[in-house]
Amino acid sequence: MCDWTSDRISTLKGKTVIVTGANSGIGLEAARVFAAKGAHVVLAVRDEARGADAAATLSGSTEVRVLDLADLRSIRAFAENWHADIDLLVNNAGVMVPPLGRTADGFELQFGINHLGHFALTNLLLPRITGRVVTVASSAHRSGAIDFDDLNWETRRYGNGSGGYEQSKLANLLFTLELQRRLAQAGSPVIATAAHPGMAATNLMSSSESAVIRVFAAVVVRLFAQDAATGALPTLFAATEDLPGGSYVGPSRRREMAGPPMLVGRSHAASDRIIAERLWAASENLTGVRFPATDLAMAALQRRSAMPVATSHSDQTM
Ligand SMILES: NC(=O)c1ccc[n+]([C@@H]2O[C@H](COP(=O)([O-])OP(=O)(O)OC[C@H]3O[C@@H](n4cnc5c(N)ncnc54)[C@H](OP(=O)(O)O)[C@@H]3O)[C@@H](O)[C@H]2O)c1
Repeated sequence: MCDWTSDRISTLKGKTVIVTGANSGIGLEAARVFAAKGAHVVLAVRDEARGADAAATLSGSTEVRVLDLADLRSIRAFAENWHADIDLLVNNAGVMVPPLGRTADGFELQFGINHLGHFALTNLLLPRITGRVVTVASSAHRSGAIDFDDLNWETRRYGNGSGGYEQSKLANLLFTLELQRRLAQAGSPVIATAAHPGMAATNLMSSSESAVIRVFAAVVVRLFAQDAATGALPTLFAATEDLPGGSYVGPSRRREMAGPPMLVGRSHAASDRIIAERLWAASENLTGVRFPATDLAMAALQRRSAMPVATSHSDQTM
């Protein structure tokens, strides 16, 4: 079988796609393909000017909206100002090993931005989502653990932040697992999938305060990393291929560090339904945002009653 490339994606004309952190790296490269395939792409970014610069490099229909995942007020404003259907939400934005810091709501930055921010955003937008939620995780989830006694690194030693990154990326996969379970239970046609890019040359490591980590990362990236466009392929695959809900996609070569995308495995912890449910409950308590079960049921009813007798199916799964 031939390696999967974005050429395999058929037209996305008429689809609306929101990509968080779309001004840089993997998010930008995924946005580039979605727009080139005809989707209307919303670049959800924390810096409007950087978003506009990135959008100017894309051909197709794009729009820049401000979204700071480190601030629940910004997330709520983004969702409140959104009134159309969304075919695809890509939870891509992330930070890696920044110095210990807090979001506007007091969450540790990596747990707050990478997990809680996307948790709140997804649940607030869910009544509008018609197709799929793709969340970008990492192989780093394999070393992660969820410490329910100290999710926000208030008593633990934070060190260089790698434990915080690993916890947040494990949380991304547990979120996908529990979201998929809840969607299926609610009878929703929406599915949740996850992807990881392997190792890709992006700006991700630039926020570390440790010069040693930054230099090490630069050397490793230069020697081993694939480019950001190739790193975006698992996201694109998870977003557009006909997959079961809960699927996890990553690169197929060099121990999932590089190469074309395929379905990949995950750690035991990332498959643990009890931890996933517990994390979901903790995330609801921390953010004050809940799974919109009633809204989803209503949206499904409305869609059904608005549907013409003969429905047309688009040629691309989402
Ligand atoms: N690159 C890799 O090798 C690798 C490996 C495994 C997983 N990943 C995952 O891939 C995803 C994309 O990262 P990347 O490698 O493409 O890195 P990147 O180039 O640094 O992109 C990260 C994006 O997230 C945005 N972002 C950060 N904090 C935000 C906030 N508070 N609100 C909104 N957006 C915010 C950044 O915006 P600014 O430009 O404004 O900072 C940027 O657009 C991340 O989830 C990362 O964990 C990457």
